[in-house]
Amino acid sequence: MRQKVSDERPSLMRYEIREIVDVVQKIQELDKDFKVDNENIGDPVAKGWPVPPFLKDLLIEAIKQEGDKVFGYSHSRGWPPARKWVVKYAKKFSPSSNLDYEYVLFTSGLGAAISAIYEMLSHGLRIIQPTPSYPTHASMESFNANEESVSYELDPDNKWEPNLADLEEKIKNNPKIVGILVINPNNPTGAVHSKETLEKIVQLAEKYNLFIVSDEVYFRMVYNGYKFTHITELAHNRVPLMVMRGVSKDVPWPGGRCGWIEFHNIHLDEDFKKYCDAVKKRILLEVCSTSLPQMVLEKLYDHPDFEKWIAQYNKHLEDNSKNISRILGQSPYLNVNPTNGAFYMMPLFKDNVLNDRQTLPIKNPEAKKFIENLVSKPGLPLDKRFVYYLLASTGICVVPATSFFSKHYGFRLTTLERDPKKRDEIYSRVEKAIDEYIASTNV
Ligand SMILES: Cc1ncc(COP(=O)(O)O)c(C=O)c1O
Repeated sequence: MRQKVSDERPSLMRYEIREIVDVVQKIQELDKDFKVDNENIGDPVAKGWPVPPFLKDLLIEAIKQEGDKVFGYSHSRGWPPARKWVVKYAKKFSPSSNLDYEYVLFTSGLGAAISAIYEMLSHGLRIIQPTPSYPTHASMESFNANEESVSYELDPDNKWEPNLADLEEKIKNNPKIVGILVINPNNPTGAVHSKETLEKIVQLAEKYNLFIVSDEVYFRMVYNGYKFTHITELAHNRVPLMVMRGVSKDVPWPGGRCGWIEFHNIHLDEDFKKYCDAVKKRILLEVCSTSLPQMVLEKLYDHPDFEKWIAQYNKHLEDNSKNISRILGQSPYLNVNPTNGAFYMMPLFKDNVLNDRQTLPIKNPEAKKFIENLVSKPGLPLDKRFVYYLLASTGICVVPATSFFSKHYGFRLTTLERDPKKRDEIYSRVEKAIDEYIASTNV
């Protein structure tokens, strides 16, 4: 080739949630008896959650009623009735909402929306990310800026609430920051941010003339007595705001590839409006988002059985949160925050308990050699080393905290297990494996 076609930017991108699947597959090739407990991917369907029967009925009905239209393209920005429903739904929580349906954009899953918002930002400008963060946001943001992500801390000693002093300090010191990303309820920590915290974030955005991006894909999944605060209400007529939602997690329908962006308060800033128009233009190039989910959206979330469905789902997640944090909380080596929303938990290792000599027994000699080779790579984070040993030794697959751009060592797990006995058995094994791993250099 006449010119070099590759560059170093992909090194800024991380998606260990899926990358670790390659490690699982390799171990399975080497050890035919290797069985895995997937605690890494936030896919309720893969974890055996049934799709609610009323959704299946709605799909059959839509195909009968709308005919072949459901197999065709829909409007590039989203099927107009679906966009109008999003506006109506926003008014339910924020009655004076100024959301216009022309500023609701449907995308093929929120993943596509995330790429588009960072791509269309004027080059070099930054949206500050929480750390730990959902890697698609942090990766796409830093990829487009061609620099490591700029982040504010979520504080594990304060229920993973944002460290607002740190956030303000970073904003003050970096004039390139134009927006603040909030993920609430949070992936990977399972935190639900308080109304007071969100109000302070809105105040910071006002003070420094920034916009807010609020990823709310888990907003219906809140429990343990916590309540979700609609930032749209707080930010109303105060700061430009982008809200992101979708059908992947609560219905659950991740394979539906349907998400949307809502642009609120665009009248406040002409330049922000131009940026929104650029995102709109960018979305047109994708032709359209999957048609079928948009055509059942209103009937789905307004269905009389939906509330019952989400209540039993949240009840189960609450039980899992309590029991997994009870079991892992017994470990003297971990700090554990229970999950209050979404379906993730991120236990952290206490300071200085990990080192690069710790191991766990791996029965299959080929798999052992493979893992020893992986962990010998220079610069491998210590929590990744632990995750590899845990996987090869016990079959339990979790994701290292450092893969979520975390400065703390730990791991993220999903709280989606449906069988309480199996859940307790898996996490008791994790707790025991941690003991054994830490002790392995003391013998
Ligand atoms: C915080 C957050 N945002 C966005 C997404 C992407 O969702 P989608 O399936 O709609 O692409 C995920 C998926 O796990 C997520 O956790």
